[in-house]
Amino acid sequence: MFADPVKVLITGADGQAGYAITHLAKSDPFFAVTALSRKQLDITQPEKVIEQLDACLPDYVINCAGLNSADRAEREPERAYQLNAEGVKNLAQACASLSIPVIHLSTDYVFDGHYATGYSEKDETAPLGVYGLSKFQGEEYLRTGWPQHIILRVSWLFSERGDNFMLRLLDEARHQEEICAVDDRRGCPTSAYDLARVVVAILKQISNGADAWGTYHYCGAEVTTRYGFSEAVIAAARQYENLKATHLVPVSTKDYPTEAQRPSTSVLKCQKILNVFGIRQRPWRSELQRLVRIYYDQVET
Ligand SMILES: NC(=O)c1ccc[n+]([C@@H]2O[C@H](COP(=O)([O-])OP(=O)(O)OC[C@H]3O[C@@H](n4cnc5c(N)ncnc54)[C@H](OP(=O)(O)O)[C@@H]3O)[C@@H](O)[C@H]2O)c1
Repeated sequence: MFADPVKVLITGADGQAGYAITHLAKSDPFFAVTALSRKQLDITQPEKVIEQLDACLPDYVINCAGLNSADRAEREPERAYQLNAEGVKNLAQACASLSIPVIHLSTDYVFDGHYATGYSEKDETAPLGVYGLSKFQGEEYLRTGWPQHIILRVSWLFSERGDNFMLRLLDEARHQEEICAVDDRRGCPTSAYDLARVVVAILKQISNGADAWGTYHYCGAEVTTRYGFSEAVIAAARQYENLKATHLVPVSTKDYPTEAQRPSTSVLKCQKILNVFGIRQRPWRSELQRLVRIYYDQVET
């Protein structure tokens, strides 16, 4: 017996997470996907949000819209709060009024990074800057405004598109002899496509009756530093090209100032998502190999 496809509406669908989730969900007959870019649905406009949801009446909303640059958030705090907090409030209110459950992406930056062993969902939040604060406010609007939500905190997203550390590093490695990478900040890189797998798995389970609303952590398996990740990116790229970069220099955070303060440990513990949904962390290294290959299929060497 075949059921009707589950209707999902994806916001921020042109971003790295949005694109990967859209791509995977569209390839699965379980879902009927409406994927909306910022131009098609601006979540900071409450009347547009309710209008669009009312017209489409999806079974689920997946919110991938967000301002994800911590440095930009320090420069443009109003925009960060408007999008990461008020935008989520608009979605929460519209979804609550139409009884549409929401899956929302959040971040390790809600923590201050002082726990060297990493963070579980029960740990206290303490954002260090505008980005983390604005994301935390968005989480709170959803938690208090509409119980039928999944907040999925993820870390260090990378993919072959968008603005991310892997692409910035590849660009530097192709054009500069020396590259500096911070070696005292620890975290777990997460492929946008691995995240998509996780979101789809959660959606299928809650569509089939799992009553498991709440906050979850997910990240790729294996803790590393920005330096360690850079080494892996460069090694993968050297399979395809003789890079200009000859020196990868480890530096400390204090010698590599940025506008936003970043958590020194961004490791998210992923036990709860395993216990509740049976979702296991996958190694980021194999995804890195795959995405660097796709990158080289796209660029001219
Ligand atoms: N990237 C990471 O390392 C990371 C880590 C942890 C959590 N997250 C979270 O994951 C989510 C997705 O991140 P991402 O890396 O996929 O970000 P991204 O690539 O920047 O994608 C965000 C998308 O949101 C869209 N957008 C911006 N303003 C909007 C608005 N007012 N209404 C609707 N859409 C809007 C953007 O469109 P335009 O490009 O047209 O502006 C973009 O397509 C964010 O919530 C982020 O906080 C990201």
